[in-house]
Amino acid sequence: MSQQVRGVVSLAKGAPVSIETITVPDPGPGEAVVKVQACGVCHTDLHYREGGINDDYPFLLGHEAAGIVESVGEGVTDVAPGDFVILNWRAVCGSCRACLRGRPHLCFNTHNAQQKMTLQDGTELSPALGIGAFIEKTLVAAGQCTKVDPAVKPEVAGLLGCGVMAGLGAALNTGNVGRDDTVAVIGCGGVGNAAIAGARLAGAKTIIAVDLDDQKLEWAREFGATHTVNSRSGDPVKAVQELTGGFGADLVVDAVGRPETWKTAFYARDLAGTVVLVGVPDPSMQLEVPLIDVFGRGGSLKSSWYGDCLPSRDFPTMVDLHLQGRLPLEKFVSETIGLEDVEASFAKMKTGEVLRSVVLL
Ligand SMILES: NC(=O)c1ccc[n+]([C@@H]2O[C@H](COP(=O)([O-])OP(=O)(O)OC[C@H]3O[C@@H](n4cnc5c(N)ncnc54)[C@H](O)[C@@H]3O)[C@@H](O)[C@H]2O)c1
Ligand SMILES: [Zn+2]
Ligand SMILES: [Zn+2]
Repeated sequence: MSQQVRGVVSLAKGAPVSIETITVPDPGPGEAVVKVQACGVCHTDLHYREGGINDDYPFLLGHEAAGIVESVGEGVTDVAPGDFVILNWRAVCGSCRACLRGRPHLCFNTHNAQQKMTLQDGTELSPALGIGAFIEKTLVAAGQCTKVDPAVKPEVAGLLGCGVMAGLGAALNTGNVGRDDTVAVIGCGGVGNAAIAGARLAGAKTIIAVDLDDQKLEWAREFGATHTVNSRSGDPVKAVQELTGGFGADLVVDAVGRPETWKTAFYARDLAGTVVLVGVPDPSMQLEVPLIDVFGRGGSLKSSWYGDCLPSRDFPTMVDLHLQGRLPLEKFVSETIGLEDVEASFAKMKTGEVLRSVVLL
């Protein structure tokens, strides 16, 4: 048995996305079918459409989602039909070298569904980040479903499934920001503003938002930025130094992922501080930095995959903090849209008029 549902597919590099009829198999052993309620549009979906991730077209886009488990396959005990879940792309295996060393947040062998969702002609789809959630129902590995308090709105909860968790975790987990720290965040889209919210949650004393867009900077203030810098109007490195006693910030998060923003992050950081790269670079990008500067400035240069989150630990906590009024996740939702509006939402992402467009189903 299988079901036919509508989903948003990127058929060819650079081409506009289209709505296709997709066959979703019944869940096999270890799998679950989830009725998607909401799915945010992340910049990574656009990276897929533009060929910036790999060439395994056609892609079933969407991966920041929440919904209700409809059915589960053999052997699934952690979730059951009716559970409200956030989908994650880190279903830890428990047996790879990272998991065995007690670092499941780095799991190198995460689980996805074994079976494939297909187009009507049988072509297998590559689901974005192993999820694929701009679709009425999706097939995932049961471990990709994380149960959270159903009191949270789906359009808010879903965002924790990728970008918002990546940003929160870039500050809290990878950056290990603490009380009294100075923090700068380059790029204040959904990911960067989540890093700002994370820095505030952890008690950072100075939080500097850097972007090219004044609207994004205005939103950054609502998430906790104490200062904003528009890098169109001057050197952002100098601006961050001036706001931190001439030294630079203890932690700088690059939530754009370009050589020039990484260099800004590197030079805007205080000696022995931390740079966290959470933005995803294009495979063609190269970095050139004097090695003596890397040595001479000390500290650590890190990348943050998915905010080093452990979904089973972090999703319920972030939802609870939100429900307590301590994490304004609802502010990330700029608009709710339909499946047919995904292409238009990419354009809005480029012009900067939205933080997150969220598809409601
Ligand atoms: N590491 C992860 O696990 C992970 C997870 C989700 C998303 N991402 C990546 O994070 C990045 C940000 O995602 P998003 O959804 O927030 O994107 P977005 O497009 O909403 O935001 C990007 C922001 O960066 C700003 N910007 C662009 N160039 C800049 C520059 N030179 N200087 C300063 N600001 C600049 C833009 O104005 C915009 O506000 C993307 O590369 C995305 O793929 C990474
Ligand atoms: Zn593992
Ligand atoms: Zn994403």
